[in-house]
Amino acid sequence: MGLLLSVAMCEALVMADDILGDVRDLRDDVYRRPLATAMTRLGVGPGWRCVDVGAGLGDVAIALGEIVGREGRIYAVDIDPAARDLVAAAAAAHAQVLALTQAVEDLTLPEAVDLAFCRFLLLHVHEPLAGLTAMAAAVRPGGWVVAQEPITSAGRIDGVAMSMPDARHPDIGALLPGLVVSAGLELVDAWAEAPAGCGPGPVASYLEELTEVDPADASIVLPPLVTVLARRPD
Ligand SMILES: C[S@@+](CC[C@H](N)C(=O)[O-])C[C@H]1O[C@@H](n2cnc3c(N)ncnc32)[C@H](O)[C@@H]1O
Repeated sequence: MGLLLSVAMCEALVMADDILGDVRDLRDDVYRRPLATAMTRLGVGPGWRCVDVGAGLGDVAIALGEIVGREGRIYAVDIDPAARDLVAAAAAAHAQVLALTQAVEDLTLPEAVDLAFCRFLLLHVHEPLAGLTAMAAAVRPGGWVVAQEPITSAGRIDGVAMSMPDARHPDIGALLPGLVVSAGLELVDAWAEAPAGCGPGPVASYLEELTEVDPADASIVLPPLVTVLARRPD
């Protein structure tokens, strides 16, 4: 196909670039590329109503808030009330971002949303399928669930497998496609993507933040993040 790009492909690339621009501000976020790919595939744009579950510091919720604009709405949900306060402070300039304290298993929103999103959440919850089922129930018929979860043991530092003993389900990403089907969703697409690098840079900094050990010039493959795009049947 070489340099021959169709008009539709060019438009998709321009849109991906726009969304990447909005997610580019994510603080040290080495996993932002699969996020931008997912949002582009869905066509997330002005007016969308979304929930980011397990929002943490709210970086993704705020980036989504930029994309959906003032006519849209982003619910940033986390089980930790301290996260709600941090997100509320960070989102002070974004009236469309609302921070709520809830467990994913009990997710209850004031309205059905177009997209329920989570990243690095299900590896920490007791019952990942219950969490995904609650996310599926939160979207309107025909709406989307996007989940991004790691396969921790597939990450490598100088060829040695990584581990995350604190997580309940460190390899939940490997089960994600089947879990969304079990949650009653239609699986539309799924893929895995892993940032990699050697020497100083965002990948090494991310790993150092995670492990509190400077990886120096080790070859690093961070845990692949499995992304699933799934749709609630009409
Ligand atoms: C690793 S952080 C992920 C933050 C963010 N999603 C990201 O990708 O940067 C996981 C977050 O999930 C939250 N969390 C853990 N269990 C939860 C549950 N059952 N329901 C909702 N949030 C939960 C934690 O409080 C934490 O803020």
